[in-house]
Amino acid sequence: MDVHSLLPSFPQGILITVLGLLFYALVRVIYNVFFHPLSRFPGPRGAACTRWWLAYQEIGKGLHFSRPTVYNEIYNSQNKWDKDHEYYRAFDLDESFFTQTDYLKSKHSRALISNLFSRRAISEIQYLIRAQLDRFCDVLKEQNAAGDIVKGIDISMPTVTLAKFSSVFVWMIRHCPPSILMILAPSLKGVVVFRTALDAQVKSVLKNPGLLDNAPHRVMYSELLNPEANKGLPPPTALQLSHEARVLFAAGSHTVGTTLMTGVFYLLRNPGAKQRLVDEVRTAWPVLDEAPSYEELEKLPFLAKFALRMKQTAVIKESLRIGTPTPAGLPRVVPPSGAVISGVEIPEGTVVSQSPLFVSFSEEVFTRPYDFLPDRWLQPGSNALESWLVTFSKGPRSCLGINLAYCELYLTFAYLFRRFDVHEDLTK
Ligand code: HEM
Repeated sequence: MDVHSLLPSFPQGILITVLGLLFYALVRVIYNVFFHPLSRFPGPRGAACTRWWLAYQEIGKGLHFSRPTVYNEIYNSQNKWDKDHEYYRAFDLDESFFTQTDYLKSKHSRALISNLFSRRAISEIQYLIRAQLDRFCDVLKEQNAAGDIVKGIDISMPTVTLAKFSSVFVWMIRHCPPSILMILAPSLKGVVVFRTALDAQVKSVLKNPGLLDNAPHRVMYSELLNPEANKGLPPPTALQLSHEARVLFAAGSHTVGTTLMTGVFYLLRNPGAKQRLVDEVRTAWPVLDEAPSYEELEKLPFLAKFALRMKQTAVIKESLRIGTPTPAGLPRVVPPSGAVISGVEIPEGTVVSQSPLFVSFSEEVFTRPYDFLPDRWLQPGSNALESWLVTFSKGPRSCLGINLAYCELYLTFAYLFRRFDVHEDLTK
């Protein structure tokens, strides 16, 4: 018998190979989705099927840059680029100015409340932060425990990731009555509790605007509802007010919390640095009942360093750099005029971003970037490092709450290390 006649022809060989590869791919997908040890973990099924899914998410939907110099090319005050809707819709806060992707549309609401976040306004309300810190210290002393807010946010964080990849999930959060939602998705408890509380607050403000006149300080609702400031535009709806409130709540809590946690962690790992901070704060704050002001704390060289341009911090800056509480690349859309990034022409409509981690941990920018070295901010030439602290982002959509964040950080570090002997629990 002629053996050759049994062998497939060349085209048949290619067909068999292709079919074989397809069969192999199908078997792998089935294995990955149903039998792989990681298959029981929650997440998009596409991600379980194949790693190509991740490549599509990372590359196919936009450009992500790693060279640290790119950060200031994308995020700067000249670039009034829109945010990417695909990413920001995941927050399910479409009525807020934070998720308003159109730069021009976001400008109006941002401007209305930005006065509340000026350095002067924050200095005036520092007594509120102190009151909360007194409470915080009491809780630490008595219960050694975190409050419900911290727990609520902590539990809810994974839902943001889920929302990013599932519009069904977003729809469910939006439309399901709170009581049913908590049964269907207990991990959403924190989100539901906040949403319900803030919705109730908005409702009572709209029902009785006189409440705002009695407020001991200016509040966001008065600014947004001010007819003069709205210049003939329709007043904000209840939903918009609620979304703005939720944004401020979320934007201002886990960010400051993460920075504090990082700073405390590294200070405890660096007994020398911790002692310097403790000594410095004790000298500035000799009598426990007479806490210094935010302005006085700003002048401390190790917690803070006075520079001509602005007051800067060493421990705080290093905590912000190494903690980077918002590590994701914040996607921006290249405008109709196109852009040149890193010397390459990028066409209109391309979604571009860079994670701040590529700057914060770049060896080109920071010596020993993985080490907690507050002193790097105290060297004679360290002003040059300023432009590389990108934790609050840059440009017209950068952090609105930066002054509040700094005030909270100064006061909390001082309160914590002056009122307590903070140390690592080596038994755990
Ligand atoms: C360590 C603390 C903080 C860090 C690291 C931080 C970081 C950031 C970053 C990176 C952005 C840009 C987000 C984007 O482009 O989508 C941002 C925006 C924003 N932050 Fe902060 N933030 C902090 C604290 C605060 C506080 C205390 C508040 C106020 C309660 C606040 C309110 C906001 C708001 C309203 C925006 C939106 C600005 C806009 O879209 O125009 N942040 N923040």
